[in-house]
Amino acid sequence: MTLDLSLLQQKFGSRLQTGIPLARYTSARIGGPAQALLKVETANELAQIVTMLWELEQPFFIIGGGSNILVADAGVEDVIVLNRARHVRFAEHTSPPTAWAESGANFGLLARQAAARGLSGLEWAAGIPGTLGGAVVGNAGAFGADLSANLVMAEILHRKPQEKAGELPAVQREKWLKENFEYGYRTSRLKQHPGDAIVLSAKLQLEHSTPQAVQLRIDEHTIVRHRTQPPGASTGSMFKNPPGKYAGRLIDAAGLKGTQIGGAQISPLHGNFFINLGTASASDFYQLIKLAQLTVAEKFGVALELEIQLVGNWQVEKG
Ligand code: EPU
Repeated sequence: MTLDLSLLQQKFGSRLQTGIPLARYTSARIGGPAQALLKVETANELAQIVTMLWELEQPFFIIGGGSNILVADAGVEDVIVLNRARHVRFAEHTSPPTAWAESGANFGLLARQAAARGLSGLEWAAGIPGTLGGAVVGNAGAFGADLSANLVMAEILHRKPQEKAGELPAVQREKWLKENFEYGYRTSRLKQHPGDAIVLSAKLQLEHSTPQAVQLRIDEHTIVRHRTQPPGASTGSMFKNPPGKYAGRLIDAAGLKGTQIGGAQISPLHGNFFINLGTASASDFYQLIKLAQLTVAEKFGVALELEIQLVGNWQVEKG
């Protein structure tokens, strides 16, 4: 599928923004321009826009908090859908209490809003920079917990395969229970099969507690995070932890902490965090990724698998 800019301009008119630098929308502050960008403010708008893009057979990529992605310097040919659908609702008097939010809601903020209401269960997520949608797709986790333990169900926009060639795709809104997501460590059915379904909203299960008790646990996690994870612009953890091992410890033991290429550095504090010192390009990051993978494979025979997603036109950087 290639992008047809004039078709998109005709269908979306002035809503379609062109040539937008993406660095400002990513947590690593890196990334070239989007040829075409559409911003959505509600889950209904997200559903409408994505349905149209599927019908027009135009490729797209949804950006939420912009963490866990590395956008190529050459930019992105797919339409970028910027998810700013952020409505949040709490049901405090149900058993169990729940939080419902649109997929563009900031997950860490949702956790802090729950804390302020004395609702427990998301303390581990208070420092997570991404959106709820990203967390549902990637099964975000920290401090031994992950999203799958909280998820009750999510509303999904699902594209069914065409029955006959030339037919419009059948697009449906569906409610998926947690079991449908086939969750694993930092993965789900949606992550394994991108392109067939997107998250519109999700409902999370919580527990009654007190604002003080919940805040205390958040504070404990924050102290650990500040001690072990660097501040500064990064993608979050670069690699998944290999089974039974820690990516950060392997990169550390390989002697790579503090290594710098261009404006990118492997954090001297934590080996699995790569920092943009201010002028890093995606290519600098990519070279550091390759260096870490090669060195760890050579020294320890372990293949480090990316947790982040490479987005956009990487032909140039990969050579
Ligand atoms: N370690 C080292 N050297 C380092 C870094 C870590 O020896 O440079 C050791 C630590 O001492 C520890 C072990 O490696 O024994 C694990 O490190 P840490 O406790 O920092 O946790 P992690 O496995 O690196 C995971 C998640 C983080 C999450 C933290 C806190 C992954 C890939 N990362 O990090 O999630 O915040 O636990 O619970 O699962 C993310 O996914 O983006 C993320 C930040």
